[in-house]
Amino acid sequence: MTTDTHPALGAAPTPLTLDRLVELTAATAAEVRAGLHEIRFDAENRWSVRLSGDAYADVWLITWTRDQSTALHDHAGSLGALTVVSGTLTEHYWSSGLRDRSIAGGCGAVFPLGHVHDVVNRSAEPAVSVHAYSPPLTAMSYYRLDGDRLRRTHSILTHDPEPAVVTLDEVPTRGSAPAPFPGEGRR
Ligand SMILES: [Fe+2]
Repeated sequence: MTTDTHPALGAAPTPLTLDRLVELTAATAAEVRAGLHEIRFDAENRWSVRLSGDAYADVWLITWTRDQSTALHDHAGSLGALTVVSGTLTEHYWSSGLRDRSIAGGCGAVFPLGHVHDVVNRSAEPAVSVHAYSPPLTAMSYYRLDGDRLRRTHSILTHDPEPAVVTLDEVPTRGSAPAPFPGEGRR
């Protein structure tokens, strides 16, 4: 796996490298395979739990049932990596155009600064993945395709890579109950 950061993207504000994050997610994925962490699946909302966190990195366990996906997003000022524990995930990522790659169990991907992607489980088989972010995630921006261009739609402050994002379509109308705070009531 190539984990070099494009020089134009500059250095990330963390002593950890993409290679170190790959090691971290691979080691944690081995723990998950060994049954050391509880796994749940939720077909309504992707299930996730933070397994560890310190000043330098957060490690999350995320499960995916069929067709569960994120939206196109970045990780603000954080580097990231993922290792698929089981199942197969498809990553749609931006690289002068939207490209796809399939990530099977035991394999992974890295997210250098500026990496924009959407991850989805296209298989009937549930998938499990381990993700690490360094520095720990503090914000994410979301994007949409506008023809052959990428447009940022909004940004949120979040420590959770699976926030219950309130989109414009979900903004409550006058008189309706207020939307929950992102992350509220997820677990
Ligand atoms: Fe992501």
